[in-house]
Amino acid sequence: MAGRLWASTVGKKAVMAVTGGVLLLYVVAHMAGNLKVFAGRESIDGYGVFLREFLAPVLGYGGLVWVIRAVLSLSVILHMTAAVQLARRAKRARPVSYATRPKVNGSYAARTMRWGGVIVALFVVYHVLDLTAGVLNPHGVEGEIHANVVADFQHWYVVLAYTVAVVALGFHLRHGIWSALRSLGLGSARRAAAVKTAALVVSVAITVGFLSVPYAVLFGLVSDQ
Ligand code: HEM
Repeated sequence: MAGRLWASTVGKKAVMAVTGGVLLLYVVAHMAGNLKVFAGRESIDGYGVFLREFLAPVLGYGGLVWVIRAVLSLSVILHMTAAVQLARRAKRARPVSYATRPKVNGSYAARTMRWGGVIVALFVVYHVLDLTAGVLNPHGVEGEIHANVVADFQHWYVVLAYTVAVVALGFHLRHGIWSALRSLGLGSARRAAAVKTAALVVSVAITVGFLSVPYAVLFGLVSDQ
């Protein structure tokens, strides 16, 4: 059953929608959690401890974080594998590429999705080395989240790197949410405008929420003082 679903185009689209939904939930929770930076050092550092202590009697200290990492990794692998396979299928269905590329509905979005996805995936590797492992962070002390974040975003080039990634994520989410909802049958002509607006509002809120932290540090609104 699962094998047949995975083999079908509709099944791969469903896998993309479900794993994309899991990743979207994480991104929303992460963005909201980051806003604790504005409430001060104790708030954000305490939140890090809370996440590691949560369910500790069952999973051990930090166990929940590892469960989240496993779910996210599996979701990313399935999401990217389905994306690559769907793109190959679409290419096979049209083996001769256009001599002159006519304006095909969705081709611009598809290209943006591919490169946006690659940028976000590369960013996550850099981001984990920066703020989780701390090896690329100017402060880089485990558990000192506030200090690590403040040390990072003193530097305009770090803010720029995060801006590029978060904006790419915003575009990726806008199209991803829209096409997932359309796959679920919500994209009928009558509803298309509302679905498009909803996708835009959600992705702009996530983009602005994430970017508020680096820019607040860069402009001195959040500091170590
Ligand atoms: C300006 C934006 C962001 C800031 C300030 C930020 C901050 C942080 C911090 C401080 C941590 C470490 C938390 C801890 O040690 O408990 C973290 C972890 C993480 N962030 Fe972000 N983040 C940002 C954007 C993003 C984005 C856009 C994504 C995904 C697309 C992302 C994905 C992750 C993941 C997956 C982890 C967990 C890594 C792990 O523990 O294995 N972050 N982030």
